[in-house]
Formats: sequence, structure tokens, C-alpha cells
Amino acid sequence: MDWKVVFITGAANGIGLDMVRGFCKSGYKVKMIDINQDLLIQRERELKEKGFHVSIDFCDVTDEHSVKEKIESTIDKYGKIDVLVNNAGIQHVALIEDFSTQKFKQLLDVMVTGAFITTKHVFPGMKKNNFGRIINMSSINGLIGFAGKSAYNSAKHGLIGLTKVAALEGANFGITANAICPGYIDTDMVRGQLEDLAKTRNISLHQVLEQIIYPLVPQKRLIPVSEVTQLALYLASEKTSSITGQSMVIDGGYTVQ
Ligand SMILES: NC(=O)c1ccc[n+]([C@@H]2O[C@H](COP(=O)([O-])OP(=O)(O)OC[C@H]3O[C@@H](n4cnc5c(N)ncnc54)[C@H](O)[C@@H]3O)[C@@H](O)[C@H]2O)c1
Repeated sequence: MDWKVVFITGAANGIGLDMVRGFCKSGYKVKMIDINQDLLIQRERELKEKGFHVSIDFCDVTDEHSVKEKIESTIDKYGKIDVLVNNAGIQHVALIEDFSTQKFKQLLDVMVTGAFITTKHVFPGMKKNNFGRIINMSSINGLIGFAGKSAYNSAKHGLIGLTKVAALEGANFGITANAICPGYIDTDMVRGQLEDLAKTRNISLHQVLEQIIYPLVPQKRLIPVSEVTQLALYLASEKTSSITGQSMVIDGGYTVQ
């Protein structure tokens, strides 16, 4: 078996979808996981029309029974899982005193418990094969605080903790675990948030970028999503076997200042 298999959560949109294309182009067999079934089916059709061969599974990463089943069926279909990308994520912004506790728990459940569940169920196969790459999509919110993002910050910090433990437990089995910490990536989601901000402040998108975002980003640009994909492919490679337990920042200099 000379192909590699990647299991990507939150694969129907944004960064996850770009990774699907990037891993396909690099010769991987790709399993796309997402909670949004309609979008997943639409993406599968679009990708197949463009010559990408992927398989999809509708799954909520917080549902352990379903995750276990999807991991087992992926291994049945392709023989193994070499790379796990924990990318599924959600956002909610409110001040702590206004933050619904249920919402807080939901964000932690998706971004920390979800990543724990997938890791738990891919680990035995990776250990048996003496090879594995776990890539957790954290954020600069996993390294520094942002007002209004108590749940997202807690989850992304927590995901870095999980990454370190997976790195230690995988160390003697050829398994590496690393976190990617992006700043502002040029995705539909981020553009949508910036357009909302423009409406709230009654200014243009250009003004939001120039007056609010770029002063925070030394490179004064949104980062192309393809650069995140390239970093994931690098961490997934057999050649990066000594990079483990790390948080790789890709933020145009945001956290350097
Ligand atoms: N876009 C950015 O600038 C940026 C920056 C830093 C970190 N991130 C992180 O990168 C990841 C991807 O972000 P994006 O911008 O592509 O977001 P996105 O909203 O475009 O995509 C997230 C995907 O996750 C899926 N998802 C949500 N909950 C799920 C669940 N319970 N089970 C399975 N799938 C689920 C969604 O349906 C969606 O397709 C997220 O973890 C996000 O926190 C993004």
C-alpha cells in the first residue's frame, strides 16, 4: 500500500476544503468529514467534476459513536489512516457576563472534545502502523487573549494542550502531533465577519481592513488559505518526523509585536 490516507474534519468549507484539494493534489486518499451534510454533498460533486476523488461522511465530531464508526469505515475502505486533521471549528463572540454557558460548552465540545475523540480512535491504528501525523487547527487565539472570545480562546488554548499530550504519547510510535495557529486567513467566513463589521460601523470593507485589521498585522494582508494547506502538507510529510508538540504560527506577524 503506497498511498497515504488523510481524515479531515470540518472539510466542507474554508481551510478544511482547501486542504482537501491540497492533499488530493499530493496523491493522498482523502476522507472529508463535516456536520453540514448538504454542503458536504455539494462539495463532493464540485470536487469530482474537477477530477478530485474524495469520499465524504456526514458526522458531528462530538458524537463519539459516529466518529468511531467513520474512522473504522475509512480504515476498512483505505486500509489505514496516516494523517488526522482536526479542523472543525465554530465561533461565538460575547462578553463573559453575557456568554451563554451552553454556548461556551458547545465551543469546547467541538474544538477540544471533538479533537480528543478523533485522536483517541485513530491512535490504535497509527500505533500499529508505527506512523501517524496529527494536525490540530488551533489559532493565534490559542496563544493570546481576545476580548469577547472566552470560549474560542479557551478551546484553542486547550487544543494546544491536547496536541502536546498526543505528541508525548505518540513519540515512541512514529506519531507526531502539531498545532497550526493561523491569524486572519482569507476565507469566506472571515470576509463575511469583516463585512458584518463594516455594516455595524457603517464603513466599507476596505476601511475595515485599513483601519481595524491591517494595523494589527505587520504584513498588512489577509493570509492566503493555500499557505495554511502548505504548512499542513509539510507537517504531514514523512520527512518532518522530528517536529512534534509544536504550535506553528502563520499570522503575517500579528503575534510578533
Ligand atoms: N479562517 C481563519 O482566519 C481562522 C483563523 C484561525 C483558526 N481558524 C480555525 O480553522 C478551522 C477552519 O476555519 P474556517 O475559517 O475554514 O471555518 P469554516 O466555518 O469555513 O469551516 C468550518 C467547518 O467545520 C464544520 N463543523 C462545525 N462544527 C462541526 C462539528 N461539530 N462536526 C463536524 N464538522 C463541524 C462546519 O460545518 C464547516 O464546514 C477552525 O477550527 C477555525 O477555528 C480559522
